[in-house]
Amino acid sequence: ATARTPYQQVRATVTAVLVETFSEVFSAADDPMVTSASRAEFGDYQCNAAMRLGKALQQKPRDVAQRLREALEPRLAGVCQVPLEVAGPGFINFRLTDEFVTATLSRMLRDPRGKLGVPAPAVKQRVVVDFSSPNIAKEMHVGHLRSTIIGDTLCRVLEFLGHRVVRLNHVGDWGTQFGMLIEYMRESAPQALQPGQALELGDLVAFYKRAKQRFDEDPAFQEAARAQVTRLQSGDEEARRAWRALCEQSRREFDRVYQLLDVRIEERGESFYNPYLSEIVRVLEERGLAQEDQGALCVFLEQFTNREGKPQPLIVRKRDGGYMYATTDLAAIRYRVQEDGAQRVLYVTDAGQATHFAQVFQVARRAGLYDPERVSLEHVPFGLVLGEDGKKFKTRSGDTVRLMDLLERAVELARADLVARIAEQPGRQEDEAYIQRAATAIGVGAVKYADLRSSRTADYRFSYEKMLSLSGNTAPYMMYVFSRVSGIARKAAGLPAEAAVEMSELMQRCASSSAQPMVLREAAEQALGRHLMRFGDVLLQLESDLMPHQLCEYLFELSQRFNQFYEQCPVVVGADADERVQQSRLALCALTGAVVQRGLDLLGIQVLPRI
Ligand code: ARG
Repeated sequence: ATARTPYQQVRATVTAVLVETFSEVFSAADDPMVTSASRAEFGDYQCNAAMRLGKALQQKPRDVAQRLREALEPRLAGVCQVPLEVAGPGFINFRLTDEFVTATLSRMLRDPRGKLGVPAPAVKQRVVVDFSSPNIAKEMHVGHLRSTIIGDTLCRVLEFLGHRVVRLNHVGDWGTQFGMLIEYMRESAPQALQPGQALELGDLVAFYKRAKQRFDEDPAFQEAARAQVTRLQSGDEEARRAWRALCEQSRREFDRVYQLLDVRIEERGESFYNPYLSEIVRVLEERGLAQEDQGALCVFLEQFTNREGKPQPLIVRKRDGGYMYATTDLAAIRYRVQEDGAQRVLYVTDAGQATHFAQVFQVARRAGLYDPERVSLEHVPFGLVLGEDGKKFKTRSGDTVRLMDLLERAVELARADLVARIAEQPGRQEDEAYIQRAATAIGVGAVKYADLRSSRTADYRFSYEKMLSLSGNTAPYMMYVFSRVSGIARKAAGLPAEAAVEMSELMQRCASSSAQPMVLREAAEQALGRHLMRFGDVLLQLESDLMPHQLCEYLFELSQRFNQFYEQCPVVVGADADERVQQSRLALCALTGAVVQRGLDLLGIQVLPRI
C-alpha cells in the first residue's frame, strides 16, 4: 500500500462508489476510470463511463449518467458537491466540497511534522541516487551540471517524503588514463611523486591534454604508461601516491562547484569497487554467463543484436585483463544492494548512456546480482544543454564552458540586476553582505530553475537573459513571489514587514488563532485553496516519474492563482470585516508562502526576504 493524499483518497472513494452503483443499478461491472478534471471549470474529477455503459446497455448515455448521479449523490455527501454535474453527452463531473478543501488546508497548516500535510510513504525505502559523477582530470562539463542539479532535487524530494537517501558520487577515478597521467607526471613534475609533496599541477585539464598528446605521439611513452597502469593496480607506492594526488586536486575543484550549488554528495568513485571486480567475473562465470571471445570475456546480451542479428556482447574483461566501465557498474549494483540495502537505485546521466544501463541492468538481473521483485534499478536520463543558437553549448571562442565560470557569470549578472533594482527603489538600501548573499542565491537559483523547469528528457537551451528575467517562469520571479507573499502575510498578521518571521511560525500562529474552520467565499480563494491542497500530489507524482518540471509548473501556477486571489480578495480589511474571512485569507497567504518556500527548497533554491 502506498501513501495517499486527500485528493487521491477522494478519487478512490468516488471510484468505489461508482463500481458499487454500476452493479446495483445496471448489474454491470466496469472500471469507472475516474480522472482528474481536465479543466478547473469541470470541477476536480470526471468520469465518462456513462458513454461506454450506455453503449453496452443500449441506453442513452445521458440517461445513464442521470441515473448514476442520483444513486451517487447520497453516498458522496460531505465529500463532493451535490448536485453532481452531468455535462455534454454524459460526462459526470465531481467537485470537492469547500468543507473538504478547508479541512485539508487546516491539516496542512497544523501538520505537527512540518510536512504541509504530505503523507509519509507506507514503506520507507532506502534509495541510492547516483548523480553528478564527473571524471578525474577531465572537465566537469554542463552534462555533469545537469546531473548534479536534477540528482540533488530528486534526493531532496525523496528525503522530504521520508525515504532514506544515499547520495553517491560515482566519480571516474580509475582506468587506463591514469597510467598516462602518472607517466606524464614522472616526466614533467617528478618532484610531485616524492612522499609528502603537495601537488600543484595547475590546470588539470590542460595537464590531461598535454599527457594525451604525449601518449598519442610516442610509442615508448605508451609502453611506459601501460606499465604504470599495472603498477597502480598492484598497489605500487609511488603510483598510488601520484594517483591520489591527481584525485585530490580534482576533488578540490569539484568541491568548489558543490559548495556554490549547495549540494551534498558522498564520493564513492569507480576505484572503490576495484577489489570486487574479479569477484563479479567469478559470479558471471559460475552462472555460465561469461564467455571468452577473441581473448576478451563477454556476456552475450538478450534483445541486443548486431547487424547480422547475432547477440551483442557486453565486454566485462578486456584481452589485457583490464576491466570495463560496465564491470564496475555491475560490482556497484551488488554492493549497493547487499551492503547499502538499496531498494531503489537511480542513475542520473545523459540520455546517451541509456543503452549502457539497459545492458548492465540486464546482466545484473541474469547474474542474480539483484532481485527485480525487491529492487528497482532506474536510469534517469536527461537531454543535452544547448547554446542559445540551439547548437552545442560552447564559449564564444568555441571552447567548452567551465562550470565555475558559468556559475560565477550567472551570479555576476544577477548582482548587476539586483544593484540596479535597489537603486531604482527610493529609500531602499542593502549592505554588501546582503547583496552578495542575494546575488549568489539568485544567480545559482536561476541556473538550477532553468534546468529543472524544462522537461528532463528534452534538450534545453541555456540563456542567461531568460533564466535571470524577473518575469515568467524563472527562479527570480518565484523568489520574488515568495518575498511578496511573505510580506503580505506578515503585514496581515500585524507584524512589521521586515520582521524575520519564518513561514512555519506564521502558519502556527494562523492555526492557533483561528479555532473556527476556514471559509472560502470567493471563486479566487476557492481556486487557490484547491491548488494548495494538491502540493502532496505533485510530490508523489515526482516520486514515481522523477520529472521535476512538474513541480516548477505547479509553483508557477500557484503564483498565478495567488495573484488572482490577491487582486480580488482584500487580505487586510477594516474593523467591520468578517473576522473568519480575514483569518482564512491570512491562512491562505501563510500557506502559499510556506508551499513556495518548501517547493523552492526542494529545487535547491533559497528564498530571500527582499529581492
Ligand atoms: N562518470 C560518468 C560520466 O561522466 C558518469 C557515471 C554515472 N554513474 C554510473 N554508475 N555509471 O559520464
